[in-house]
Amino acid sequence: MHEAKSLRSYGRIKGRTLKPRQAALLETLLPLITIPGGPITLDELFKHSPPPCGAGAGGGGRPEQPPTLNTAYPTPPTPSPQGRGGDILEIGFGGGEHLVAQAAANPEARFIGVEPFLNGVASCLRHIEEAGAEKIRLHHGDARDVIARLPNASLDLVYILFPDPWPKARHHKRRLIQPAFIEELARVLKPGGEIRFATDWKAYAAWTLELFLKNADFTWTAECAADWREPWPGHTPTRYEQKRLGDTAPIYLRFLGNETR
Ligand SMILES: C[S@@+](CC[C@H](N)C(=O)[O-])C[C@H]1O[C@@H](n2cnc3c(N)ncnc32)[C@H](O)[C@@H]1O
Repeated sequence: MHEAKSLRSYGRIKGRTLKPRQAALLETLLPLITIPGGPITLDELFKHSPPPCGAGAGGGGRPEQPPTLNTAYPTPPTPSPQGRGGDILEIGFGGGEHLVAQAAANPEARFIGVEPFLNGVASCLRHIEEAGAEKIRLHHGDARDVIARLPNASLDLVYILFPDPWPKARHHKRRLIQPAFIEELARVLKPGGEIRFATDWKAYAAWTLELFLKNADFTWTAECAADWREPWPGHTPTRYEQKRLGDTAPIYLRFLGNETR
C-alpha cells in the first residue's frame, strides 16, 4: 500500500465557530462512527450499528444522553429506483448533503465519507442524525490516508465531487487527482467498480480525463456529449454544484475499473 502524500490538497480545516449542537455531535456521535486506525476491514467496520433512536444528540449544548440516531425521523426517504448495494466511498463530502442523501436513497449500501474540514464533518453529523442513517462511517482527515488502509478490490463506487480545483499552475500539484492517486483508486476498486467525478472547472475536467485515460486500469464510459453533460441516474446535487463557482457548467465523468486487472 502507498503512504499518503503529505502535500495538502485542501484549504481551510476549520471555519466559523461551531453551533453547540454540532460541537456536541463531534464529541458524541463522531466517535461511534469514526473509522479506527490500522488496516480497514469493511465487514468489521459495519458490524455494529450506532445505538438505536432516542432523543437525538442535538438540541444545543452538551447532550446528557448517549448519542443516538433519530430513527423516528418523520419522513423516511424512499429508496430510489436506482437503489443499489455495495461499498461506496465519498471523498471530500463537504457538508455531507450528498453523502446522506445517497445513503437514504440506497439503504442496502454501506458508505464511507472522508472530509478534512471540521465544520463539514460537523454538518454531516447533523444530517446523519436527522436522517437516522446507520450505514455511514466517517473519517475526519485526508482521503489518501483512508484509501492507503483499504484492502485491494474492496470498493464498488467512489465519488469525487467538485474537488478543490487549484486553478493556478503552481498549485496543480495540490490537486487530488494525480497519477499515483489514480493507481491507488485502481487498487481499491473492485473489477467493474466505478469512479464518479464531477467538476465545474474546464481545466480540471481535462486534467482528470487525461490522467484516467492514461491509466490502463480504467475505461471512460462516455459515448456521447450527454454522458458527461448530464449527471448519472440517481444523482443528488451537492452544495458546491449549486454554487456554480467554476468556469463551466458541471462536467460528470464516469470511469469503470477494468475487469482484467
Ligand atoms: C470544493 S469542496 C466540495 C465539497 C462537496 N463535494 C460539494 O460538492 O459540495 C472540496 C472538498 O474536498 C475536500 N478535500 C480536499 N482534499 C481532500 C482530501 N485529500 N481528502 C478528503 N477531502 C478532501 C475539501 O476539504 C472540501 O470540503
